[in-house]
Amino acid sequence: MAFKHYVSFSLVFLATASIFLANEAQAHAGVNNNNDLCCKSDYPALCRSLIKGQTNPFGAAQTVVNHLIMETQRAKKHVARFGSSQSQVIGICQDSYDDALDNLHTCLGNLKGNDKGSFNSNLSAALSDFEVCNDGFNELGESSPVKDVNSLLENIADTGLYLESLVH
Ligand SMILES: *[C@@H]1O[C@H](CO)[C@@H](O)[C@H](O)[C@H]1NC(C)=O
Repeated sequence: MAFKHYVSFSLVFLATASIFLANEAQAHAGVNNNNDLCCKSDYPALCRSLIKGQTNPFGAAQTVVNHLIMETQRAKKHVARFGSSQSQVIGICQDSYDDALDNLHTCLGNLKGNDKGSFNSNLSAALSDFEVCNDGFNELGESSPVKDVNSLLENIADTGLYLESLVH
């Protein structure tokens, strides 16, 4: 009798324990693969701050491009403060921000139209627009007053490209 009780207790315990372990495993898998879109991005902290827990890559990519549009508009205003009398590169940066904005608006359309190839090339084009601005200063041996701003913009663009790669 006592032995039987012992056996059934063990079986119940084992069954409960394996259900618990299975749930744990699922929970961990969920955190790594499903719920946190950012864990494999190049800039996970930046990515998380941009998408704020969104789990749908499509919506997340859209959010990131919208942020990038806002930040590019801010960068354009910011660079205007330095004035083209300070450096001829300021004008180049303003043009490249305008070009980036065009490319980013196109990107939003590409995303809606499920055109991954065009999304990638338009977002990559925006990314190189930010580089054009920095290269302009480098070529003249001037230090860029918008170096950090451009790095941030490039990292946001990189995050958008990564999130889009998760859309199926
Ligand atoms: C941007 O996307 C459009 C389609 O909307 C495509 O025709 C164009 O080639 C893309 N631009 C670049 C720079 O890749």
